[in-house]
Amino acid sequence: MAGPEPGKRQDGRLRERRIVITGAASGIGLATSRLFALEGARIAMIDRDAAALAEAAAGIGPAAHACQADVGDEEQVGRAIEQAAAAMSGIDGVVNAAGVSRRQPFTEMSKADWSQVLRVNLDGPFHVCSAALPHLRAAGAATVVNIASGVALRPIADCAAYAASKGGLIAFGKALAVELAPYGIRVNTVCPGIVETPMIRRSIDSYADPEAVTQKLFERRLLKRFGQPQEIAHAVLFLSNDECAYVTGSVFAIDGGGTMH
Ligand SMILES: NC(=O)c1ccc[n+]([C@@H]2O[C@H](COP(=O)([O-])OP(=O)(O)OC[C@H]3O[C@@H](n4cnc5c(N)ncnc54)[C@H](O)[C@@H]3O)[C@@H](O)[C@H]2O)c1
Repeated sequence: MAGPEPGKRQDGRLRERRIVITGAASGIGLATSRLFALEGARIAMIDRDAAALAEAAAGIGPAAHACQADVGDEEQVGRAIEQAAAAMSGIDGVVNAAGVSRRQPFTEMSKADWSQVLRVNLDGPFHVCSAALPHLRAAGAATVVNIASGVALRPIADCAAYAASKGGLIAFGKALAVELAPYGIRVNTVCPGIVETPMIRRSIDSYADPEAVTQKLFERRLLKRFGQPQEIAHAVLFLSNDECAYVTGSVFAIDGGGTMH
């Protein structure tokens, strides 16, 4: 199938595109939802936190549809995707941003701890892509963007389950890129470094000296700061529109130089 004509859309880089975004009530998913709506997309926001989701969608306005679901639950995802497709009359793209992190030494990790992370971070994108696939195929020139993590490229201590889930997500994205290219569906992965969101705040605050940890983390990055959710959202925007119609199966580190240094 031929790709779309580059630069075809005139008003807003995502005009007329219908995108499902998971983890949309907070952090990177919320920043992506806001940016996509500004760029003319219709969006279906999925999150398990019903109250935060309703508030986030209301703040964005009529372009946003709230579809509450736990991405780890296949049935809930199936219902949310059908709700999204009905509300937007189809689906042109998916952004898998829902995720959980867990800081825990491997020596203390139970099977249940491991499974809790894999269920959301890896089963979740599987459920979403699987349910959305018929709609993405029908749309043609569709996109999938998965949010993995720099931790999958350069693991740190106490994150075996998280690193494995995100490493699996990178491989899943590449495998899907191969299988879905014949349908005109592009699949790419973004690996954020440390981004200032509630997730990272919770993680840093769990250390005895959060300020010292923050300074140490700054030092490890070429740009000596954390990223902002909008900076990740702009990378996802690039991958979700026709300007990069020749990009698929790629893995983009957006991390202030954190993984190459
Ligand atoms: N913040 C970082 O530094 C960072 C770095 C690398 C990767 N990431 C990844 O980026 C993504 C977004 O993270 P964030 O920092 O914005 O986190 P966040 O905690 O601010 O937001 C995550 C959102 O996902 C939702 N969510 C969690 N589990 C869910 C489930 N089972 N079903 C549906 N929704 C669920 C939460 O309710 C929340 O709204 C995650 O996949 C995370 O692993 C974040």
